[in-house]
Amino acid sequence: MNAFPAHIDLKDRPALIIGGGAEALAKARLMLAAGARLTLIARKFAPETKAELQTRAYLLERQPVAADIEAAVLVFIADTPVEEARRWAEIARMAGVLLNVVDQPAFCDFTTPSIVDRGRVTVSISTAGAAPVLGKRLRADIEALLPPRLGALADFADRYRDTVKATNAPEARRSFWEAFFDGPIAAQVLAGDETGAHEAMLALINRPQSEQKIETNPGAVHIVGAGPGDPDLLTIKALRLLQRADVILYDRLVSDEILNLARRDADRYYVGKAKSNHAVPQEEIEARLIELAREGKMVVRLKGGDPFVFGRGGEELEALRNANIPVFVCPGVTAATGCAAAANMALTHRDHAQAVTFVTGHAKDEADPALDWSALAALKNTLVVYMGVTKAETISARLIEHGRGCETPVAIVENGTRENQKIVKGSLAELPRLIEVGGIKGPALLVIGEVAALADGETLIEIIGKERAAA
Ligand SMILES: C[S@@+](CC[C@H](N)C(=O)[O-])C[C@H]1O[C@@H](n2cnc3c(N)ncnc32)[C@H](O)[C@@H]1O
Repeated sequence: MNAFPAHIDLKDRPALIIGGGAEALAKARLMLAAGARLTLIARKFAPETKAELQTRAYLLERQPVAADIEAAVLVFIADTPVEEARRWAEIARMAGVLLNVVDQPAFCDFTTPSIVDRGRVTVSISTAGAAPVLGKRLRADIEALLPPRLGALADFADRYRDTVKATNAPEARRSFWEAFFDGPIAAQVLAGDETGAHEAMLALINRPQSEQKIETNPGAVHIVGAGPGDPDLLTIKALRLLQRADVILYDRLVSDEILNLARRDADRYYVGKAKSNHAVPQEEIEARLIELAREGKMVVRLKGGDPFVFGRGGEELEALRNANIPVFVCPGVTAATGCAAAANMALTHRDHAQAVTFVTGHAKDEADPALDWSALAALKNTLVVYMGVTKAETISARLIEHGRGCETPVAIVENGTRENQKIVKGSLAELPRLIEVGGIKGPALLVIGEVAALADGETLIEIIGKERAAA
């Protein structure tokens, strides 16, 4: 270890920054966040430093003197020429005051680490000034791993510390807290359900001590949205859950790149449509989720896009709740927003569409999709059809029959956000032909409305021209 790690309590204690520019402002933010009574001294303050700090710190526009340094518990020197900094460093050393000169490790008594700030929980990463960029990278990795509500969890535990101390013998306390942090009440706090967590904690600590057992392996299911395919569109929370999962049940639209981000030794079950086209029945998936959670597993039910948009996530949530399994939902980027971004096509636009409607074009066999065609045709806004490829002819015909113009622009985005993404565009009357000539098989979205004209994509003429040129 190159330097002694310690977290200094600066609350209401005098701290000093010599300097008035951008570096000084960055250090001032940190010290104020730690509650320091902060003074900045500079011959001149940058306007933004002044604007941000003048009501929160003492700003003195003058030359510093030795007594300023002697009065502080911690000093930063920023935006100051090296020779001057060296002089202040000598004074600070004689006064026994800890000093940091920004970007001058030779004059520093301490360095500032990269930090992951979760309120009361702070993780500091130091490379002792040797490689700050490496420190920042590690920080980004740790940021992604630690739940944002970790500080709230520490605060929660702190509220019950004295009570647990009073009701548990010293040797039982440690195991109580270990079980607590692994158990369902902590999971509730992390998920943001503080009211439920307080109720559960009060019920627990009001029991006789012999019955204050926390089930540490209660099993839970997280219904997680994997987004439309590009692994970069996974949420940080989804990534964190994938890296903690014991078991993952995933659908057809979840890409391999996303599965590769999961914990290596997690069991994986494919529950989408098999090659024979037989999907695992929904009741069987729900029964499997319940069974795995009851075995004490941390289960991730991973679904393409968002689990609550044409994803049957609602049914799974209900089944798990009915079975008293702790269940949490993590949203994902739905195909409509992912594909719209990938095609550079805004779904709403002040000049073209004031609303957007999502519908499913799915229907059994010969049947029409069960949609209110006259309402949809009358909307004159953006209509996004999920699972509409096989019924595109019907969709186009019914909308036109009910009054939507033949020339209404349409865009079809296949495998949006993935490497094999394809976009074709044209008019509502052309929709079936676009699908045929464009060779669209799915997964694909149909976007119908003025905004579709903005999509990057090939028109019928362009596709045919290209085919002819290639022939
Ligand atoms: C069962 S739905 C699931 C939707 C998903 N829950 C969501 O929020 O995106 C499957 C349909 O979503 C659309 N879809 C999903 N991923 C897509 C992608 N990457 N590109 C285009 N369409 C996609 C297709 O219409 C596909 O048939």
